[in-house]
Amino acid sequence: MSRKRIVILTGAGMSAESGISTFRDNDGLWKKHRFEDLATPHAWAMNPELVMEFYNARRKQLFEVKPNAGHFVLVKLEEKYDVQIITQNVDDLHERSGSSNVLHLHGELKKVRSTVDESLVYELDRWELKMGDKCEKGSQLRPHIVWFGEAVPMIVPAAEIAATADIFIVIGTSMVVYPAAGLIGYAPHDIPKYYIDPKASHVGGISNLKVIQKKAGEGVPELVEELL
Ligand code: APR
Repeated sequence: MSRKRIVILTGAGMSAESGISTFRDNDGLWKKHRFEDLATPHAWAMNPELVMEFYNARRKQLFEVKPNAGHFVLVKLEEKYDVQIITQNVDDLHERSGSSNVLHLHGELKKVRSTVDESLVYELDRWELKMGDKCEKGSQLRPHIVWFGEAVPMIVPAAEIAATADIFIVIGTSMVVYPAAGLIGYAPHDIPKYYIDPKASHVGGISNLKVIQKKAGEGVPELVEELL
């Protein structure tokens, strides 16, 4: 009997208890910066140093934080289930906690890419990307991050994975950024779905959804225990 598949969509709240700021909470990143000034192709064109600095600071923090209880307990699910993680996060905490299947919808902080050939993606082995750091074709390297207004190429495989879920879990996302927020709509209607978030926003039109108004560190271990 093949193992049941659990598909898990995570957002910034998954990493909050690791000390990484979310975007829209009251101390969130977008409260300190206007994302139009930072996370857009226009911002990169007008002021690449500022954009570079923003991502360098977030990348530097990655070397100082570690996965939290919520990340680690998701790995335990792999004892019994085929677990597919689809994350909006650009940190590497799911990988570092040992999750086997992690799909990044919005890119990865520890990767950079060519500005003339987006298929040229490189691992950055240090925290700082600088103006003048070039790809093998001689173009300036940029953060391998999906900015507002840019395509989300990984949404296609993500939607295909969501459609094969036997259980769908959403953890720590405000569900306001599409297409990521629409993924739950691809999950089969009749399967059990869970949404773990202390301020879970209303998700309309989704059947079999159980909302757990708790932080990841508390809500995820409880749900995993139930599923195991
Ligand atoms: N545990 C679980 N959830 C939490 C916790 C916690 N400890 N702390 C906060 N949250 C929840 C908040 O209640 C909120 O619903 O995490 C969610 C964070 O929402 P956002 O800050 O909007 O982050 P996210 O949903 O991941 O943003 C989506 O927007 O800025 C873009 O590309 C960026 O991937 C990001 C996307």
